[in-house]
Amino acid sequence: MAQFTLPKNSQYTEGKTWPKPAEAKNVTAFRIYRWNPDDGQKPRIDTYYVDRDDCGPMVLDALLWIKNKVDSTLTFRRSCREGICGSCAMNIMGQNTLACTLGIDECNGGTVKIYPLPHMPVLKDLVPDLTNFFAQHASVEPWLHTETPEPEKEWRQTPKERAKLDGLYECILCACCSTSCPSYWWNDDRFLGPAALLQAYRWLIDSRDESTGERLDALHDPFKLYRCHTIMNCANTCPKGLNPAKAIAEIKKMMVERVV
Ligand code: SF4
Ligand code: SF4
Ligand code: FES
Repeated sequence: MAQFTLPKNSQYTEGKTWPKPAEAKNVTAFRIYRWNPDDGQKPRIDTYYVDRDDCGPMVLDALLWIKNKVDSTLTFRRSCREGICGSCAMNIMGQNTLACTLGIDECNGGTVKIYPLPHMPVLKDLVPDLTNFFAQHASVEPWLHTETPEPEKEWRQTPKERAKLDGLYECILCACCSTSCPSYWWNDDRFLGPAALLQAYRWLIDSRDESTGERLDALHDPFKLYRCHTIMNCANTCPKGLNPAKAIAEIKKMMVERVV
């Protein structure tokens, strides 16, 4: 039987248990991944206790409570706190999701376990390095390509044409889908992953875009597109309820239809 050994710096250790808030009656425990690139130590899991009577209802509220009241070194991204910016994506209770839209009470009522998005290099604590992810998004040229002279006012669409973008334009590029995709874990340098491919499809079916052929040419590659094996983790995890797997299947259909 094959035997695998994890690299040393990927094995985490038991970290610090921070004191419970004095006199708090309603307390929830949080176990949170910590790693500091500057201290030469292995990653560790710290335990914090949050006074729920002094804290908002969402997981992001708890992280902010910890940062403000217990441990200011805890590092994570956030901005909008309402599911729009995509920056607070992390792995909570084994699922990639947004900390700001997940209620603490939705985490099975016990200890809340939080890790960074899986299979990405970690910059610090809960902050993954998304450089490759955003470079892949840029590679699909996510803007309108046109050749005909610009109209005086705007590029027009019928309501039916516009409706084709529903389920696609809502993507907030949180990376929950790509980092839950096994094909992306193994080939993130060559497979574009569900988020970038959903964006690619959003421009392929935009009635105003005039580079459909060139866009399909750019995706016609054994890795960029065809590494999707329809495992569907992406659709199951998307916190916006989108379905990247379906978008990828539609691109594959467009590839076949243009050959026939
Ligand atoms: S498709 Fe969903 S999970 Fe993927 S990046 Fe967009 S919003 Fe996030
Ligand atoms: S359906 Fe495709 S893109 Fe989505 S998780 Fe599975 S392999 Fe990845
Ligand atoms: S803070 Fe913007 S999506 Fe969570």
